Order: sequence, then structure tokens, then C-alpha cells
Amino acid sequence: MTDQPADINAKFTPRVFSGIQPSGNLTLGNYLGALKRFAEKQDQGIETIYCLVDLHAVTVWQEPEALKRQTREAAAAFIASGIDPDRSILFNQSQVSAHAELGWLLNCVARVGWMNRMTQFKDKAGKNAEKVSLGLYAYPALMAADILTYHATMVPVGEDQKQHVELTRDIAAKFNHDYGVEFFPSPAPLIEGAATRVMSLRDGSKKMSKSDPSDASRINLTDDADTIAKKFRKAVTDPAPLPEAIEGLEGRPEARNLVNIYAALAGMTPDAVIGEYGGQGWGVFKPALADLAVAKLAPISTEMGRLMADPAEIDRILGKGAAKADAIAQPILEQTLDIMGMIRSR
Ligand code: AMP
Ligand code: TRP
Repeated sequence: MTDQPADINAKFTPRVFSGIQPSGNLTLGNYLGALKRFAEKQDQGIETIYCLVDLHAVTVWQEPEALKRQTREAAAAFIASGIDPDRSILFNQSQVSAHAELGWLLNCVARVGWMNRMTQFKDKAGKNAEKVSLGLYAYPALMAADILTYHATMVPVGEDQKQHVELTRDIAAKFNHDYGVEFFPSPAPLIEGAATRVMSLRDGSKKMSKSDPSDASRINLTDDADTIAKKFRKAVTDPAPLPEAIEGLEGRPEARNLVNIYAALAGMTPDAVIGEYGGQGWGVFKPALADLAVAKLAPISTEMGRLMADPAEIDRILGKGAAKADAIAQPILEQTLDIMGMIRSR
């Protein structure tokens, strides 16, 4: 795909957009790879829009009542992690119809060959590719619509979403090229920090995921202090102590993962963590990591519990956020329809 002019984003207000699926327990991976960084962007004074992508969640089966509960719980996790609904726009995707509408239009821009290269689809569909929903296949084009209907220029995500943001750039470039416009920006994935890919605590080659059948593989944001400590104590590692220098983590994915988690939670570099703990055994490092994780996560889960006690208030916050989001998204959708030659006469 030919790329956009290098300075295309200079035409657009800097704006951050990101989303998380409300499809179950949020994990430490979501917190370090996404939520914590979402709050940092907001605190830098950039315009920030954060979305609970319920339309994405239903690409696989969701019990209706559970989906509602998980959406509220995810909203509570955002707020408890420092996202302030007065300074960021926080809402659930299905309340802003521009996402689905632009999603359709971009389905007609994206090429099947591009979709076939999406590794997340291949991983999720596995041998079942004939049986999964059509939505699961089209999902990256909806994600492009999420981003582009706000003309967002920056997308903070974990490593696993990089390919989808790159697809978004290809879709934007093709749209601009085909219609001879400079209408959509070229959003940049922001993949920063020590924990862009937090790995499973049971298997250092697998991503920590809310859908892993083993609960011991992840730290849930709702886990209590004892559970967090136990999971870190039992985390699978090799027997060697921590290396004296960062290069010594080469070929030791489990050790690297725990060092990265410590670094991200403490706001340190992995190098500095090795500076402090190099040469120490797991009997020292694991309890230190557990204490740090409890200190950082306990206030979040307490605040989530407080917010979840008043679901009506969460719904009000999401409704207000959706109205603000709609005010940005709808005009961009209208302009897109106009560029494509659809009559707007209502
Ligand atoms: P998901 O849970 O797939 O909806 O992901 C929501 C956000 O969290 C995305 O930005 C992901 O990249 C990020 N994320 C999910 N799991 C991890 C992980 N294990 N490590 C780092 N980031 C993650
Ligand atoms: N696909 C993302 C995930 O599974 C969630 C998502 C949907 C998203 N739309 C987005 C992330 C737009 C960033 C921007 O994690």
C-alpha cells in the first residue's frame, strides 16, 4: 500500500483513541499494557477518548447479562486506574452508531488479502475458521473505524494490537488515495514502556490473557492481596537466580517477564531492576514483586468495588461520554458519506 504524505498528521489535532473489550476479567496485562498508559496520556493534557468496545466483544458469544456486568466492571477499572470522565471521554462503543456505520464503509475499502494476514484472527479462529462469526473476521476494519471516526492520531495499545493499527493506516491511505482527499490521518500505534507484552505466569511464551483457561496464568484486577501473592509465588521460572546484567535475561522469558512487570509497576527501567536485584534468588524477588503488585493494585480493586456498588452511576457516566463522543464522530461520518457520494438530504 502506498503510504500517506509524511506530514499528513500535521493537518489534525493530536488526539488519542483506544479501546478494550469488555469480555471478562481485566488483567495485569491490560493494566500495564493499556490502562496505566491511557491515564498517563490524559495527564499529559492530550485529548483522550477511551472506549469499551462491546461491538467487538460480540464477535464471540457473550451472555447478555454478563456483557452488561463486564462493561460496567471495565468502566470501573478505567476510572479506578485514573481515567477521569471529565478529562477523558469514556463510553461504550454501541452507544455511538458512527462506529458501526463507518465500520461498514471501511469493510468496502479493506481488501480480503489484507484481512487474511491478520495474525490475531488466525490465532483466535485456529482450526475452527469455518465456524467463527463473520464479525470476528471483519473486526479489524471495525477497529479502524473506531480510530478514524475521531480522526485520532495516536493509539496506545499493547504489542498484540500493532498489526491492527497498521491495517488502520493502510485503510486510511487507500481511502484518501481512492477518493483523492487528505481526509483521514495516519494513526500511530504507541507501544511504550517495560510491559507492552505481559506474559502468562505459567508459560513465558504465551501472552497473559483474560481468556486463558488457567486462572493462575494471570493476575486479575479484582484479585485480592493473598491471591496476587500466591500467583507470583507459584509463577513458573527457571531455577537460576536473577542475572547480574540485563543481557543475562536472554533466553529466559519467564525471568524477563517478572523483571518487566516489576519495572512497569515501579516506574523503573528493567536495567534498574536488575541493578537492584541482580544475583538474588526467587525467594527474594518474588515476594518483593508480590508486595509491589499488591501495593499498586489493591487501591484499584477497592475503588472498582466502590464504583460497582452503584451501576446506575456508571451507566450515567457512559451515557454522558457517549454524547460527547457522538458530537465528534457523527460529523466525520457525515463527511465520509458525502465524500463517497451518498446523498445527505434529511
Ligand atoms: P484486550 O484485552 O485484548 O481487549 O486488550 C486491551 C488492551 O490491552 C490492548 O491495548 C492490548 O494490547 C492490551 N493488552 C492485553 N493483554 C496484554 C498483555 N498481556 N500485555 C500487554 N498489553 C496487553
Ligand atoms: N482490538 C483491541 C483489542 O482486542 C480493542 C480495540 C477495538 C481497540 N477498537 C480499538 C484498540 C481501537 C485500540 C483502538 O485489544
